[in-house]
Amino acid sequence: MESFKVKGNANLKGNVIISGSKNAAVAVLPAVVLTKETVRLDNIPDITDVRTMIKILENLGVSIRRRGRNALDLTPNHLAAIDPSYDLVKKMRASYYFMGSLLARFGQARVPIPGGCDLGPRPIDQHLKGFSALGADINIEHGMINLSAKRLVGTNIYLDVVSIGATINLMLAASSAEGRTVLENVAKEPEIVDLANFLNAMGAKIRGAGTDVIRIDGVKEYRGVAHTVIPDRIEAGTFMLAAAATGGSVAVEEIIPKHLEAITAKLREAGAHVVVEPEKINIAAPDPLLPSDLKTFPYPGFPTDLQPQGMVLLTAAKGLSVITENVFDGRFNQVDELKRMGAKIKVEGRTALIEGGTRLSGAPVTAHDLRSGAALLIAALMADGESQISAIKHIDRGYENFEQKLINLGASIQRVSDDNYEQLSSSLD
Ligand code: EPU
Repeated sequence: MESFKVKGNANLKGNVIISGSKNAAVAVLPAVVLTKETVRLDNIPDITDVRTMIKILENLGVSIRRRGRNALDLTPNHLAAIDPSYDLVKKMRASYYFMGSLLARFGQARVPIPGGCDLGPRPIDQHLKGFSALGADINIEHGMINLSAKRLVGTNIYLDVVSIGATINLMLAASSAEGRTVLENVAKEPEIVDLANFLNAMGAKIRGAGTDVIRIDGVKEYRGVAHTVIPDRIEAGTFMLAAAATGGSVAVEEIIPKHLEAITAKLREAGAHVVVEPEKINIAAPDPLLPSDLKTFPYPGFPTDLQPQGMVLLTAAKGLSVITENVFDGRFNQVDELKRMGAKIKVEGRTALIEGGTRLSGAPVTAHDLRSGAALLIAALMADGESQISAIKHIDRGYENFEQKLINLGASIQRVSDDNYEQLSSSLD
């Protein structure tokens, strides 16, 4: 296990280039199996979740050639299996997109019930309801989801909850169904639009991605294409919040500012100076930082994936801030750890009350999931003294080169193996 040793009182300054979107990449990669031709992908982030996804594809028989750290050529002409292995699938939630893509290509899939970040209950009833409506037989036994369909037939499907995962899985399956599928009350996230653009370039007929109704006319043949994944809006938002929280001034570059409007608005409300340019946002920290209320919602609302980082920012705002988590039931993994650093936070159900204004103090803390881990790293940079963040494997799942990007902005962070922590604890300057 590895930890970060982080020196506090940081003041992030400079510019940072944002990587490709994790959640778009992990949707595009399973979709590659729809074709037999070569797919050329760029701006694929080099993170553990993507490496896991690549291993799953290789195990299924896809030939993969790396053209660079963020560039891949994938050729799925000799697919040998329809059952991704449990050891890989349990590591990441998005592996369940192989249900949709393998069902579309082969009319069958056998996928273990997925793992992923522990954010409270994460049912997949909407995915299964949709597959079933398209004509798939579903049988769950011994921890495996078995799907099979002689033919998939387009139909109308209304999602009871707005779900990114279900929207993506059903887009994938419906892409090869006979006739028209209409998906209603779907998610509108930019990652869904990116996947639709990718599938359409391959030959799919998908209209309406980015609105709450998607119409899909099924297609049998898919061709190889080249596609560049969109920038990661959550990584960008993490750096924007980190800049404001550390009293810094940072230019966040190679992004699509339109995807970050909720964060820009919230930071302005908290007093930050935000200047938006065509592919870049400049943040200068507020003085003083103002308390604010923050409610998470599906896109275009404030993303739940930035709620923990937003909470850290608000611990520095003098006064009372209220956070309401509307997307997940149990997504306050960061709270107990932040309390160890002196934060005053009270959780009641889906609401967190933050009495901000006291300086955090460095402490040993643990990352319990990806975004709460990123939030703890920001907290450690703000705090007085040194912190140790353990279980950083969660952070590595979703942020490419995170500590190096922060170091380039002036942070002092060292990655240490937990066994060596004591030995190295005096070497950080
Ligand atoms: N839900 C259901 N039934 C379903 C599916 C979802 O009740 O069949 C509920 C969930 O329990 C949750 C809500 O609907 O309360 C939204 O879940 P959604 O399906 O949209 O989430 P997801 O697809 O599992 C993706 C991202 C998450 C992100 C959420 C919400 C990927 C691979 N994951 O998860 O990203 O938090 O959407 O925006 O795209 C992360 O990147 O750190 C991360 C966890």
